[in-house]
Amino acid sequence: MCGIVGFAGHEPCMDIIVDGLRRLEYRGYDSAGIAVDEGGTLRTARSEGKLDNLVKKLRLEPFYGTFGVGHTRWATHGRPTEDNAHPHRSGSVAVVHNGIIENHVELKAELRQKGYVFQSETDTEVIAHLVADFRAAGHDLAHAVFHAMSRLHGAYAIVVIDATEPGTLVGARLASPLVVGLGQGENFLASDVSAILARTRDIHFLEEGQLAIVKRDGVELRDATTFESLPLRPVHVTWTPAMAEKGGYKHFMLKEIHEQPRAVADTLRGRVSLERAEVVLPEVPLTREDLATASQIYLVACGTSWHAGLVGRYHFEDLAGVAVHVELASELRYRNAPIDDRTIVIAISQSGETADTLAAIREAKKKGAKVLSICNVIGSSIPRESVGTLYTHAGPEIGVASTKAFTTQLVALHLLAIHFGRLLGRLDEATARTELEALLHAPSLLEAALTLPGHDEPYIAIARRWHEAHSMLFLGRGNLYPIALEGALKLKEISYIHAEGQAAGEMKHGPIALIDERVPTVILNPRDAHFLKTRSNLAEVRARSGPVILVASADDPDAASHADHVLPIPAGIPSRLLPLVTSLPMQLLAYHMADFKGTDVDQPRNLAKSVTVE
Ligand code: F6R
Repeated sequence: MCGIVGFAGHEPCMDIIVDGLRRLEYRGYDSAGIAVDEGGTLRTARSEGKLDNLVKKLRLEPFYGTFGVGHTRWATHGRPTEDNAHPHRSGSVAVVHNGIIENHVELKAELRQKGYVFQSETDTEVIAHLVADFRAAGHDLAHAVFHAMSRLHGAYAIVVIDATEPGTLVGARLASPLVVGLGQGENFLASDVSAILARTRDIHFLEEGQLAIVKRDGVELRDATTFESLPLRPVHVTWTPAMAEKGGYKHFMLKEIHEQPRAVADTLRGRVSLERAEVVLPEVPLTREDLATASQIYLVACGTSWHAGLVGRYHFEDLAGVAVHVELASELRYRNAPIDDRTIVIAISQSGETADTLAAIREAKKKGAKVLSICNVIGSSIPRESVGTLYTHAGPEIGVASTKAFTTQLVALHLLAIHFGRLLGRLDEATARTELEALLHAPSLLEAALTLPGHDEPYIAIARRWHEAHSMLFLGRGNLYPIALEGALKLKEISYIHAEGQAAGEMKHGPIALIDERVPTVILNPRDAHFLKTRSNLAEVRARSGPVILVASADDPDAASHADHVLPIPAGIPSRLLPLVTSLPMQLLAYHMADFKGTDVDQPRNLAKSVTVE
């Protein structure tokens, strides 16, 4: 997501910081900025768009100071404009921040009362004023940050400097990464080792709730709740810069697969009130009246996002009792669908720029529909054309094959369905609370699925055995049917093996003719209401000598005897969360097949990350 680079040393820091930010460009960003101390005066420069825009400004008026901090912002609160770009200032204090401050609204009100004036739409600016306020009360910078942290709720990595305490950078983290780089006569703070690897490989990875006081001649570490001194535990990193960008993973796709517990937690963050058994979605401007009088609801998307919509349909039917049409944008736009001013259209898009989805919502708007969206990229075209957007906060997705964008869309749709159910009075408080409690466990379920013992082994064995297959089938029933479609799409996109997703019950209406000993069938058959029915489909495949790759619950004692390969998921997953968790074996299977074949996993042939052509 956003990038942070802080430097305290002897050399002018402007180029060092810009170079570090450049190494973070792969993460995606929409504005950039830098603050440097120039002999007791803080100078800042910020620009919308690419880093080069900032560099142009800096060429005209270079900074010469030897300590400062830079940032690339990926918008979460507030549009991607220069005013919203970091660093944010309060007098001599400047702050850069990755993450989300959940209680920024309360803090903003409190700070305004004290006379602080806000210049941006961001949640970050409260940190600058809060630190300035503690500075004004007589605390040194480290203590001011320490006290400010006790007031902040959410997830953050921050770096703060103050021109009245030159030479000191204070960094802290809670749930967002931040590292300390230890150099010779110079030290760093950065959100990602890749930013500073060119200058040091000795890194202390800040742990949750640690605060670092970084000066050019030394670094002190403190506990952020007690301010007690803590020992630094540097490790010598041997990664190459390219490996570091991928967090040590071989490909972005694999990194993004493993980021899903965090990404899903970010989609949920601040949106669930267990006390009121409600979903908190001020960004979705729909009243009970709007929903009760709506003639129809359309979910509109392309590709993987369309598969998310297909799962969403089960949530809307089960939790809100509403029927939804799930439409391919590239088809809907050419149909004469009876869309009117009582129609609600929800566009689903990772990029927010997909031409067909954009065209479909424009068409729907012309007919009077109310358009909402679920999107990952803030300020992109689809949100700009919607009356409200539920952002997924998955972070930049670099791999062309969508992974974390998909699972966060599933969570966003699940939240929206509960929200609709509550608004319409069709979901009682107790049921909604149970549903929300289960959903809050989604990040830990994903984590458990990714860390099952011996996790990678079956995927590697399947890849070795089947990487030359010409065709594969994917079967799922109920809410796992869309996951079968998604599994097939993932496989064909990156491994170039032909694959077809089918509703398990449809197999005998045609696709069964394809089955023989050379066509493996992936069967999604964890314990759910359809367990036995799908197991019968499995038997039908085996009876025709079809090899079976079985996605099964870890406590299924018969799985191994029913299949050639078993891909286990944790036992006891509630049915409504199965699409989320079974997405992981689909992604990993595609990944390992492609990796074994040696295809370009992150940039498969003929595909683009953002499809802006019709
Ligand atoms: C598949 C994939 C595509 C996209 C589709 C829509 O892995 O990424 O199928 O889902 O091109 O893109 P967005 O969601 O950006 O509208």
